[in-house]
Amino acid sequence: MRILCIGDIYGTLGMQALRDYLPKVKQTYKPHLIITNGENAHKGHGITFSEYKEMMSLGIALVTLGNHAFRYDKIREFIDKSNIIRPANYDISVPGKGYQTIRFNEKTVTVINLMGRIFMGDPLDNPFKVIDEILEKVNSDIVLIDFHGEATSEKIAFAHYVDGKVTAVFGTHTHVQTNDAMTLPKGTLYITDLGMTGPLHGILGAQVESQINKFFTGMRGPVKELTEGKKQFNGVLIDTDLKKIDTISIRE
Ligand code: FE2
Repeated sequence: MRILCIGDIYGTLGMQALRDYLPKVKQTYKPHLIITNGENAHKGHGITFSEYKEMMSLGIALVTLGNHAFRYDKIREFIDKSNIIRPANYDISVPGKGYQTIRFNEKTVTVINLMGRIFMGDPLDNPFKVIDEILEKVNSDIVLIDFHGEATSEKIAFAHYVDGKVTAVFGTHTHVQTNDAMTLPKGTLYITDLGMTGPLHGILGAQVESQINKFFTGMRGPVKELTEGKKQFNGVLIDTDLKKIDTISIRE
């Protein structure tokens, strides 16, 4: 089975990159299942119902989130009825679910979303403990984890912690694709970060001037999405039969 995992779709240009490149990527790689991280789809912060619906209409089966999961407030109204999952290590009272199982042909595929805690700021539960609890309940043919985190060390440590227990772990959140797609010693496929789908020449998707100003002055301002210019599309193709993970990176 071939599964396409698309890196964080960022804002207006991210949605446009999806429309522009996904049909060609589908033609080339012929994935059976497509999943994406969509937590930045709405101007960089959260995801609206219309963006979610468009992703579904383009052939995406499931959307994962991260630290911006609830930045678009109205997601609370539709997350429970959607194929959107949010990090499983939020408190139990938080709307939505942390993992979801999809049937494809005769196979079951469970996708789990977790968030790292290093340099992330949010007071979430320990993802290492939470994954143990989830894996006790899950008995699927294929298990994929989107680990949304900043620190490479935490992502790699987590991947080794679940090595041999799940099909693949892919990192999201940094918006820069890493050059370390590999098979871990016990067979789990891994990459530290998928990279992003959105503006090519922004600062992780945001406008350049405001971000340079932040680093120059030390003063934080609002993060505004870059809405003009070239685009990029990043992700990986996981082949569960060939036990391979290959990066996909398209720059306009
Ligand atoms: Fe994020």
